[in-house]
Amino acid sequence: MKKIFILSLMLFGVSLTACATMSPPEPTPTPDPFIVQGQNVFNARCATCHALVPDTIIIGPSLYGIATRAETRVAGQSAEEYILLSVLRPGDYVVEGFNNVMVTNLAKELTNEDMNALVAFLMTLK
Ligand code: HEC
Repeated sequence: MKKIFILSLMLFGVSLTACATMSPPEPTPTPDPFIVQGQNVFNARCATCHALVPDTIIIGPSLYGIATRAETRVAGQSAEEYILLSVLRPGDYVVEGFNNVMVTNLAKELTNEDMNALVAFLMTLK
């Protein structure tokens, strides 16, 4: 009886050490809900004309890397401003080789929050 008790104590000790040396699980990155909201807006409103993979033209240019490109589009405009204005006033700057066919009432159909989430999402596309 005593032997079994000692044996189980030893087993208990071994499993304790095993637990202690096990590395903690990798933290799974939780997607920012605001960015996810923006991506949903994009999928619903913009994906019909804009791809997110490089060099793919649907009707408009691919928005792959738009956050980086947007910096350099219009002098004096930040990337965020450029992206926002692309939706609010799409006629202001027309990408070379394209006709401005973006509907100007897109922004009116979006809530401010959706609009901000959309810009936040596009700003992740570096
Ligand atoms: C009917 C098709 C269509 C829809 C829908 C559309 N776009 Fe566009 N978009 C275009 C075209 C065509 C251009 C290029 C001409 C221009 O600059 O206006 C463009 C240009 C852009 C640009 C500038 C890209 C660059 O490289 O400078 C951005 C940013 C953009 N769109 C964002 C959006 C967002 C965000 C939405 C959704 C709210 C949207 N578009 C919906 C057709 C569309």
